[in-house]
Amino acid sequence: MAVQHFLTLKDLPPKDLLAIVQRASNLKQADDPSTSLAGRTLALLFDKSSTRTRVAFEVAMNRLGGSSIFLSNKDSQLGRGETPEDSAKVLSRMVDCIAIRTFEHSMLERFASHSRVPVINALTDSFHPCQLLADVQTFLEHRGPIAGRSVAWIGDGNNMCQSYINASEVFDFELRIAAPEGYGPDPELVRRHSHRVELCDSPDLAVRDVDLVVTDVWASMGQEAEQQERLAIFKPYQVNAELMSRARAGALFMHCLPAHRGEEVSAEIIDAEDSVVWDEAENRMHSQRALLEYLCISNLLN
Ligand code: CP
Ligand code: NVA
Repeated sequence: MAVQHFLTLKDLPPKDLLAIVQRASNLKQADDPSTSLAGRTLALLFDKSSTRTRVAFEVAMNRLGGSSIFLSNKDSQLGRGETPEDSAKVLSRMVDCIAIRTFEHSMLERFASHSRVPVINALTDSFHPCQLLADVQTFLEHRGPIAGRSVAWIGDGNNMCQSYINASEVFDFELRIAAPEGYGPDPELVRRHSHRVELCDSPDLAVRDVDLVVTDVWASMGQEAEQQERLAIFKPYQVNAELMSRARAGALFMHCLPAHRGEEVSAEIIDAEDSVVWDEAENRMHSQRALLEYLCISNLLN
């Protein structure tokens, strides 16, 4: 049987993604002492910094009774030029699951195509699907199912924005995107999701009457050299009290974190009552527990 990877949200059937989100919520509420992954090992191969993703995976494995091994690119031979294909063949004979955070999405695909065990996208330049599991779980816990609701993405058309585009289809919500010209998401991805996604000319238009407003940093990891230039270009795209007042009353605010207060989001909004960023962060651990169980133990949800 082919190995089930999680490189984007499109890799799993929508009904399974919903079941993972529900399982995550159940694990959290029941403080479920499931040790379903006893004796299993997760390898974490990270080429970029991380706080939430790394800690969430390590704690998740620990709480499921398994263990994890963290390798930054400084520690592994991958960082010295061993190919993704060779690294995948070797590591997947030793561990039970592999989570990778890297730059090019194609590196992840090359690795996964030679792995005997599930490979998880822990963030690439193109997508960050694990974050979306936590975001959808967080919306569910605060406002009920996200299906049929409307979401505004404000700012860079980056890996998070592109995962929201995928999510709009698999979780069945309407997505409005406001990004500066030249900084939008992949036009082909938008075209393929045109039944769910609308590009808006301004943040004001995008947030009108939405149930959720989401943003992210203006310069992602790997774009540090563009930071200053982007600050000026993205300035009209800050999520602040005035912008949030145009959304539906009680609209939630989300940000995957880390955030730059005073840049993409004002301090008053990230710390406001309808900001759920800390629940989002916590839910990374619960949703990744549910994802690990799903990928490592086939048919767990059936
Ligand atoms: N949101 C997120 O992925 O955070 P880290 O970069 O800290 O893992
Ligand atoms: N877009 C951000 C997300 C960080 C979790 C980045 O790629 O740096």
